[in-house]
Amino acid sequence: MKADITVNKKFIVGKTDRRLYGSFVEHIGRVVYEGIYEPTHSLSDSDGFRTDVLKLVKEMGVSAVRYPGGNFVSSYHWEDGIGDKTKRPQKLNPAWNSVETNQVGIDDFQKWAKKADTDVIMAVNLGTRGTEDARNLVEYCNLDSDTYYAKLRKSNGFEKPFDIKLWCLGNEMGGLGQIGRKTADDYGKLALDTAKQMRLVDPSIELCVSGSSHINMPDFAKWDYTVLDYTYDFVDYISIHQYYSNSSAIEDYLARGLDFDNYIKSVIAICDAVKAKKRSSKTINIAFDEWNVWTDGVLSDIPKFETAPHIGEMAYSLKDALVSATMLMTLQNNCDRVKIACLAQLVNAIAPIMTEKGGKAWVQANYYPFMYASKYGNGTVLQQVISCDTFSSSKHEKVPYIASSVIYNEEEKEIYVFAVNRSLTDEIELNMNFENFGNCNLAEHIELYCDDIEAVNTKDNEAVTPQKVISDKAVLKKHSWNLLKYKY
Ligand code: AHR
Repeated sequence: MKADITVNKKFIVGKTDRRLYGSFVEHIGRVVYEGIYEPTHSLSDSDGFRTDVLKLVKEMGVSAVRYPGGNFVSSYHWEDGIGDKTKRPQKLNPAWNSVETNQVGIDDFQKWAKKADTDVIMAVNLGTRGTEDARNLVEYCNLDSDTYYAKLRKSNGFEKPFDIKLWCLGNEMGGLGQIGRKTADDYGKLALDTAKQMRLVDPSIELCVSGSSHINMPDFAKWDYTVLDYTYDFVDYISIHQYYSNSSAIEDYLARGLDFDNYIKSVIAICDAVKAKKRSSKTINIAFDEWNVWTDGVLSDIPKFETAPHIGEMAYSLKDALVSATMLMTLQNNCDRVKIACLAQLVNAIAPIMTEKGGKAWVQANYYPFMYASKYGNGTVLQQVISCDTFSSSKHEKVPYIASSVIYNEEEKEIYVFAVNRSLTDEIELNMNFENFGNCNLAEHIELYCDDIEAVNTKDNEAVTPQKVISDKAVLKKHSWNLLKYKY
C-alpha cells in the first residue's frame, strides 16, 4: 500500500504546550504505595521514593502530574497527609474501598515531583468539602504570608511556597459514582465561588472546571455548557476525560482516534458557544487530564479495605500502544485548543510503568510512543492532507490506514512525523511532501512493532521495544507505530 502526506510550513495548527505530555498519580491501588513510594525497597531513597521508578518517569518525559485524584480527591482531607509521618491517621479510602495510610501527602508529593522533574497539577476536593478548604489549600501551597496555613507549611519544613500553577476544581463532579456528585447547576455555583476564593488567595493560578467524565455521559454537552456558563470568566480550562475499551472489535478499537478527535471538537464547540453567548473575548481551552485505553471492568472487583491493593493492573499490548499513540497524535493535532493532557495513570494502575513489590520496575508497550512524543513532539504542529486507503468500522465509513501528526522544530531544523499504520496485513510506503521547507531528508526512523499485535512486556521479557530502522525510504510495517525524523 502507498500513502501520501502533504504539509506546508505556512499551514499550521498551533504550538504544542509542554503540559500536553502530562500524567496522573492518584491514591488508587499501587500507584503511590509500592509504585512511586516504597521505603523498604532496596532502591528507594531517603524519602522512600523508588529511584528505579523515578528514572523511568524522567526518561518518559512526564511534564506535569495531576494529583491526588481522581475519584480519591472527592473525599480527601489533605491535612491528614502532612507533618510528622508517625502521627498521620490511617483512614478508609472510600473511593477505592481501600485503606489510606497517609504516608504520602501533598508535601511528599512535591518532593517526589521535584525529583521527577515534573510540575504538579493539584485537584481540590469539591465532593465532601468545598470552597473554604480549597482556599486553605492554596494558602498552604502557594503563600509566603504570615498566616496560619502558610506558616503550617513552613513548620512542616517547606519554607518556600510550592507555587503550584494549575488547579482542578474537583474531579468528574457529575460522574455517576463520584462521592459528593452534584447537578451541573449546583456544581457550577460551587465551582464559581471556589474559583473566586482561590484566585483571591493567589491571583496567578490557572483553574480547570470539571467537564464531562466521558462523552457517553447522559448529560454530556449540557453539563459542560452549564458549568462553563457559571464559571466562564473565572476559569481557564475545561477538564475532560476519556478511556476507550480494548474489548471492542479490532477495527473499532483502531479507529478510536477519530472518536477522540470528535470528542475534542465537540467540547471546543461547547466552549465557543458559551463564549458567543457571553460575547466574551476570552477563549477556554481543554485540559484532557485523564485519557487512556483499558479493559472493561479493570477497576472493579476491588478487595475490601486493603492497603495498596492490586487495582487496575493490566498488561498493555502493542495493539493498545497503537491506539494510545493515535490518541496522543490527536491531542497534538488539536494543540491549538488542547493545552494540557494527562495519560492516566503513571504507575501500576492502568499505567505505562509497572513495579513489583521489593523487586523490579519495567515499562509497558504504551510507554514508548509517549516517551518519544514528549521528547520530540514539541514545536509547531502542521495541518496535513493525507491520501491513503481506508477501512470501515462500525462507526466510521472511512478510517484512513494512517494516523499521523507532523511537528517541526525551527531551532533544530527538524520535522518529526509520528505515524501509526492501522493495517493488520499490509505495510505502507509513505511519501512525505514538505512544502516551503526546502530540501528534506529522512534522518532517522524508529518503529514499535511485533509480529504479534497482542504481544506485551512482562517483568522478565521486553517483547515490545522500539527499534531503529535503517532505510532511506519510509516504510511503515503492518500494525506499527513509527517516528520519522526529517532534516531540512
Ligand atoms: O483513573 C481512574 C479513575 O477514572 C479516576 O479516579 C476517575 O477520575 C476516572 O473515572
